[in-house]
Amino acid sequence: CGIVGYVGGQSALDVVLAGLKRLEYRGYDSAGVAVLADGSLAAAKKAGKLVNLEKELSTRPLPSGPTGIGHTRWATHGAPNDANAHPHLDNAGRVAVVHNGIIENFAALRAELAERGHDLASETDTEVVAHLLAEEFSAGGDLAEAMRLVCRRLEGAFTLVAVHADDPDTVVGARRNSPLVVGVGEGEAFLASDVAAFIEHTRDAIELGQDQVVELRRDGVTVTDFDGAPAEVRAYHVDWDASAAEKGGYDYFMLKEIAEQPKAVADTLLGRVDASGSLSLDEIRIPHEVLREAQKVVIVACGTAFHAGLIAKYAIEHWTRIPCEVELASEFRYRDPILDQRVLVIAISQSGETMDTLMALRHAREQGARVLAICNTNGSTIPRESDAVLYTHAGPEVAVASTKAFLTQLVACYLVALYLGQVRGTKWGDEVWDVVRDLARIAEDVDRVLETMEPVRELARSLADKGTVLFLGRHVGYPVALEGALKLKELAYMHAEGFAAGELKHGPIALIEQDLPVVVVVPSPRGRSVLHDKIVSNIQEIRARGARTIVIAEEGDETVVPYADHLIRIPATPVLLQPLVSTVPLQVFACELATARGNEVDQPRNLAKSVTVE
Ligand code: G6P
Repeated sequence: CGIVGYVGGQSALDVVLAGLKRLEYRGYDSAGVAVLADGSLAAAKKAGKLVNLEKELSTRPLPSGPTGIGHTRWATHGAPNDANAHPHLDNAGRVAVVHNGIIENFAALRAELAERGHDLASETDTEVVAHLLAEEFSAGGDLAEAMRLVCRRLEGAFTLVAVHADDPDTVVGARRNSPLVVGVGEGEAFLASDVAAFIEHTRDAIELGQDQVVELRRDGVTVTDFDGAPAEVRAYHVDWDASAAEKGGYDYFMLKEIAEQPKAVADTLLGRVDASGSLSLDEIRIPHEVLREAQKVVIVACGTAFHAGLIAKYAIEHWTRIPCEVELASEFRYRDPILDQRVLVIAISQSGETMDTLMALRHAREQGARVLAICNTNGSTIPRESDAVLYTHAGPEVAVASTKAFLTQLVACYLVALYLGQVRGTKWGDEVWDVVRDLARIAEDVDRVLETMEPVRELARSLADKGTVLFLGRHVGYPVALEGALKLKELAYMHAEGFAAGELKHGPIALIEQDLPVVVVVPSPRGRSVLHDKIVSNIQEIRARGARTIVIAEEGDETVVPYADHLIRIPATPVLLQPLVSTVPLQVFACELATARGNEVDQPRNLAKSVTVE
């Protein structure tokens, strides 16, 4: 969910709505706002996207006032309808609360409130907080203190922002788990899940830590822990501007982000090799002896980031000879994994806020493992809670389906693998410079791929009425096939599956029928040519059974030509680096299919970009 709060000289409603617009990637099941004006509180909320709320506000405007809060929701407790949308109010309509997360003991608290005569209107855990805050406020008359008292009674993960009509120049926030950032302006202050919400007003930010409460006033902010003791906070300056988060002439953020990939890859490489050709990853603050003694690498991640992890395994094992496991973060801690200080855990996350990944890394650290985060969001929770972080420099990614962040995650993984090789003195440690040069060249290759995508778009449009598309790959092409299928599910809402091409004969081949589109990612004919030849046989096998083959193969690879109904060319790359180019046509393919099917590209149904619940 996305949260915004504002107090200052501007119209709070305008500031909050503009902020919510930028946070819609965090969820768009419903949206709502509350403003304080002339001693009273006014609120509006609506199921569906923010435009529904905006329509509602144009027919039933709220008064203009200096203090307000807003929320855009990704539903957890309760259906995504009007009543369950945030903000939630107490019975007297004096307190309004928005919330991100889950309050685990809400049923007990709800029963307790009902006993004391409260009348709860929704099925949500958030409403309970509004009622509790109203009680505590009437006892003491201080909203920040009321918030601290209430937080001490809540269990689970929650980030809360509240206003009270009797304390009209104050917004109070509390953070446990999901992020909350303060924006400090002149005579005004902001509170949001992400700096994107207030970047057009100020670039001066303060990041709240776990279990902290912030009181926002026009003349400043006060941060304490849940007991009221002053808290230490980190103030920082945001180094990208609002235009970086705008569509910049593209119809969709996703198209813009696909186009930004060459730069994102190049930026992620920038400054990471010193004059002597060694990698200098200063951010990896894990002592060299720990890296030297590591016996195993475990990668945890979700969704697209998980696919980056699957590809990383090939590079890490090949370049460092350390065994590497890759696991879905949501599965990891529940199977009692074997962890100790000799295990290096790598947590990959674009947002740095994915709860499954966060919980996995916490579990790993509790067991003594060191955790290195690969993350795209400065100061987010996952890097904060890790031993070290390597930031990807993709810039803000807004479209829900991840594209440029994925490519930069791959680059970061390759860098980590090389770094491990360098520190541990493997043969590859000496060849860092060659690989980094290859990576830099690939940034340009991605540009070339992007220039040749019109036939891919045309092909996608011609498949708009298909029900199923399969994806096959081998070696690093296998995770690419999984990623191609995920993109199609997310965006086109089509049945799509990725398989290891060698596994085809053990089951999936039964799915092949006349004219079924099958995308095959062909490995480089150089290097591991045995893989190449095997996949060429696989293409023949499926084609013989009627499949319509869509073949992604390197320029100059002529062996595939007779078996390809559609041929998509990619530049030749070293074997392990091919995913950097082979993923790109699959992104374009899914995006175009989604458009052809009339789907919303940037905000696919039921999804959220940053999932901050388990
Ligand atoms: C969500 C998004 C995916 C993303 C995944 C992991 O499910 O819809 O696109 O890959 O989260 O996100 P992260 O921010 O941890 O990389």
